[in-house]
Parts: sequence; C-alpha cells; structure tokens
Amino acid sequence: MGKSIICETCGEVYEHLAYSWNMVPSQHRQISSTLWDTWQKLENNQIVSYRMAPEQNLSVVEGNEVNEFAAFCKFKGLVLDVGCGPQPWPAYFGSPSMEVDFIGVEPLAGDVEADYVKLRAFGEYLPFQKKVFDHVIFATSLDHMVDPFVPIAEAKRVCKPGGQVNIWIHEKKPEEPRPERSPEWYERLECPTLAEDVFRFTRITFDNLKSLLQHTDLKLDGWHELKRGEYRTSFFVRAIK
Ligand SMILES: C[S@@+](CC[C@H](N)C(=O)[O-])C[C@H]1O[C@@H](n2cnc3c(N)ncnc32)[C@H](O)[C@@H]1O
Repeated sequence: MGKSIICETCGEVYEHLAYSWNMVPSQHRQISSTLWDTWQKLENNQIVSYRMAPEQNLSVVEGNEVNEFAAFCKFKGLVLDVGCGPQPWPAYFGSPSMEVDFIGVEPLAGDVEADYVKLRAFGEYLPFQKKVFDHVIFATSLDHMVDPFVPIAEAKRVCKPGGQVNIWIHEKKPEEPRPERSPEWYERLECPTLAEDVFRFTRITFDNLKSLLQHTDLKLDGWHELKRGEYRTSFFVRAIK
C-alpha cells in the first residue's frame, strides 16, 4: 500500500501520488451526477488538447497575453493557482523569485513532476485553512468548473483579508464564424450533454463575472481588457477580499 495521511479533525484519508498528494475528499469521489459526468467528459477532451496542441490550450510559453496577466496581478507573498494545469510551471508565474511562493491545485496533478508545490484537488474543495493566501488566481480555469460560484466562494475563504482574487477569462462573441477547417483530433471530440462546447460548460462573460463577485461579496478593484481580434477579448480581473 502507498503512503497516506489521515486528517485528525475529520478522519479523511489522503493518498500519496507519484509526485503529489491526492487531496480530493471522498465526498467528492462519491458524487456521481449528470453534471459531474459531463465535467469528466470535458476534462477528457481537454487532456487530448493538451497533448495535441499544448501551446494553444495551456500557458506553457511566455507571450503577450501571459506576460500581461502576470504584470496585471503583480504576484507577491503566497499565491494559490486554482486549475493551474498539468504543466510543470505555468508561464504566467514568470521567473522564480524570492518574493513569491506558488501553490497549485489541479485535478490532473500528481502523475508528472512539477517545479513547485502542486496538489491534486478541486476548486470546489480547497484543502487549506481560511485566510492563508495573498492571491488566489484562476487563469482561464473558472469556466471549466461545474458551478463557478462555488470555487469563487472557496477562493474568498482561503484568501487573507485585503488579499486579491485574480481571474483571467476569455470572452468570445457568439457570431464568430466557425473556422473552415479544424485539426482532425479536434473534429473527433464530442460535445457532451449540458456543455456549450467540447471544453466547457459555458463561457463566463465579464458581466457574469461582475455579478458573481458581487454575490460572493468580493470587491471589484480593477480590470484590464485585451482585444484578441474581432471576436475575442481577454479580461483580467482583480477583486479584493
Ligand atoms: C484551460 S486550463 C488552464 C490551465 C492553466 N491555468 C494555464 O493557463 O495553463 C483549465 C484547467 O482547469 C482545470 N480544472 C477543471 N475543473 C477544475 C476544478 N473543478 N477545480 C480545479 N481545476 C479544474 C483543468 O484540469 C485544466 O487544467
């Protein structure tokens, strides 16, 4: 049997993985609903995209957008990245610095070595005490979660008072024409029931996000808009606890 730890408070057993710990509570593992079945199918589609086209689907190389997100966030202190991706070091972390410690949570963590502390966990069940982090970030990950309200409420719980929640979303106008041709691997992906496309339940718009923050009682403190052609815009949002 592999290594495991037991929580003294709730008795939950957490197992060691090849390169991390599995911090997904058993309560979550038992949930089998149509929504979570859809989530798993979307996640499987994402895994294909990470294998076939990592640079288009993950922050693996520094570039304009990744650098602007990092500049917008101005990371300092203890930073939690929710849905940090399977790559060893997200490009928006920039170069390692003495002023910042990154921790990531990601359902796909644990099978591959990372260059920072990364746990297998879900945004809906963050395995941390309250008021721990200076920043909690969601970099293009929020619209892959079943109900974005739950991970945002969790982010608020684990964020220090005065700390920031930084969110990066991609907006796409519905009238964007479909490309004439897509790669064969993409054409083979199926859009599961309840999902808007092959990767997500629904895209979160900037307006959706503003009302989500209001409902969670996080104060919208600033945002940056980055046009990406005629139909797409990225938004970087800062909310203060
Ligand atoms: C588009 S990727 C972004 C990854 C990384 N932030 C980046 O920019 O490279 C979205 C990530 O969210 C993760 N994810 C999906 N559902 C999640 C959940 N419920 N909790 C935490 N992460 C989740 C996926 O596994 C995936 O790695």
